[in-house]
This record gives sequence, structure tokens and C-alpha cells, in this order.
Amino acid sequence: MSQHSPRPRSPGEGAWGCEHSLTAPEVGTIEAWCLDYISAEEVAAKCSPGEPPALFDGYYAPDLAVCSAMAPGRGVGLRVQERAERIPRPAALREASARAKLLHVFMHHEIQAAELSAWAILRFPDAPAEFRRGLLGILDDEARHAQMYLGRVRELGSQYGDFAVRDWFWEKARHCTTPLQYTALMGLGFEGANIDHAARFERQLRDVNDERSADLVGQVGREEVSHVRFASRWFAEWTGEAEGDGPDYDRWCEALPPPLTPAVFKGDPVQVERRARAGLSRSFLGRLMSEGKVRGTTQKSPRRAGIDGSGNDSDSELCRE
Ligand SMILES: [Fe+2]
Ligand SMILES: [Fe+2]
Repeated sequence: MSQHSPRPRSPGEGAWGCEHSLTAPEVGTIEAWCLDYISAEEVAAKCSPGEPPALFDGYYAPDLAVCSAMAPGRGVGLRVQERAERIPRPAALREASARAKLLHVFMHHEIQAAELSAWAILRFPDAPAEFRRGLLGILDDEARHAQMYLGRVRELGSQYGDFAVRDWFWEKARHCTTPLQYTALMGLGFEGANIDHAARFERQLRDVNDERSADLVGQVGREEVSHVRFASRWFAEWTGEAEGDGPDYDRWCEALPPPLTPAVFKGDPVQVERRARAGLSRSFLGRLMSEGKVRGTTQKSPRRAGIDGSGNDSDSELCRE
């Protein structure tokens, strides 16, 4: 089956970031579905997007300005903040409301990850169809994760929107100009760090005897491994690494959108075995683990260092995807 509808592509297409576009994708195409998903406001639509169409439009190519200005739909009454709230301390997690607040943060991260998968499909029309279809699969996973978190937040006595959210991933990812940069940021960056953070929060939730929430966070953390493996595979391929070598650490650093640095994208401890299963080499992980170390001590944490360049406290937005 063809990857595209029969609609002709315009002359000159073929490079990432091409500047020509139609004003809207053809109805019934994957691109139209992605636009609808991004703009949907109801949490039910974010968590259960349904089956996407089979075919790409193959012609719609929004330019950088359109993609950078794209904003996700947010329900009326949802408080979207520019500054992150602190996530609950481990001891506070004895309270159900604090655990709901924590899982609410995770749920919104999942929603953003799903939306940004749709965004990347639109932003990079000339990336390999296999890559774009892979993003559709990731979108489906992220929406399912959001649905699972939503269910648990409700069981804990809260609702989506009871807590403020921050669109941190959107703030960073919407400016990516190549699939390589997007993969460096979302897959190797946010999702890579998530492997570490998930293990930490799973442990914290088990410490307060919330086995159900701990199991959920653990399951999501394990499922993120395949997303990082997806990013590892494409990043390594696009940078010309030998098969089996995985991403090159220096190339990853170069591809991250400034001012983000690798030190932001790790938890304590780094989950070496899981990350290795995601396609990251021992040398890559060794260099990642050494980030932030100065003469045997730990440098300022990303939170205290204001890694987003604005001095904002971004810790709670970095903690999970
Ligand atoms: Fe996820
Ligand atoms: Fe993910």
C-alpha cells in the first residue's frame, strides 16, 4: 500500500523544513487527524484519540512560523502556568491529594508528549514515513499512559484540572527545526531522563504503600524504553553511526536546542541497564553519568541552576514524561 494519498506533491519538496505549504491538510488524512488532536480541548480526546487514518496527506507542509505558533488545545478552566509548581516531597506523598497532584503532573507530561508526536509528524513532512508512523505509535502509547494516570488521579479523589499545569515540553520542542533535533530533545532527552525518574518515583510511591500508583509509574517507565530505543535508532542512523553503536554523545550534545545541556536529562541514579536496552552505549552512559560532577561532588542541580535560561524552577517539569 502506498504511504501517501494520490495527491501530488509540489515541486521542490524533499528537504526538511521546506517552506511551501497548503493552508490545511486534506480531510481524512493523518495530518488532519494530528491537527485535530493537537487542538482538542477535552481531556477525553487527549487520552482516547481513536484510530488515525491510514494515509498521509503527502503534500501539507506547514512552515516554521506556522509550526512554532501552533498551540495545543487546553480546556476551559485549566490553569496553565509559566512557572512550575513544586512537586510533592516524598514524605508528603502519604496524602492522597499529594499523590494525585504528582500523577497529575505526569498525566500532563504524557498529554504533551502525545501532542508533540502529532506536531512532529506535521513539522517534518519529509522525514521517512517509517519515522512518522513510529511517532503515531508513540502518540498512541502516550495517550494510553495519560488515560491510565487520569484513572488513578480520579481514584485518588481529584480530576484533571484540579491542579495547574505547565506546557514545558511544548515551550522547548516547538522550536525544533529538524527531526534530528527533535529526536535529541524528546526521545534521548526527556524520555531518556524519564527512565531514571520513573524508577525514583515508583520507589517513593511504594514507600508510602501506594502499590497501585507505584505499579502504574513502573509500567509507564518500562514502556518508555521502547520510545528511547526508537530515538536512539533514528538519531544514530541520521548521524551515520555504525550499526549497533547507538547515538554518539558529542553529536547528541550538539543537537540539543540551547541552552539545554545533557545534565538536565538524567535522574539519580541513572538507570544504566534500562537505558542500555534503549540502545545507549556504555560510553554514552558513562559520559552522561559524569555530567554535573565536579571533583567528586555534585554540581548545582538543573533546578537550582535555572536550566531553562529564565531562572524558572523547572525541576518538576523535568522529572517525568
Ligand atoms: Fe509516556
Ligand atoms: Fe514516551
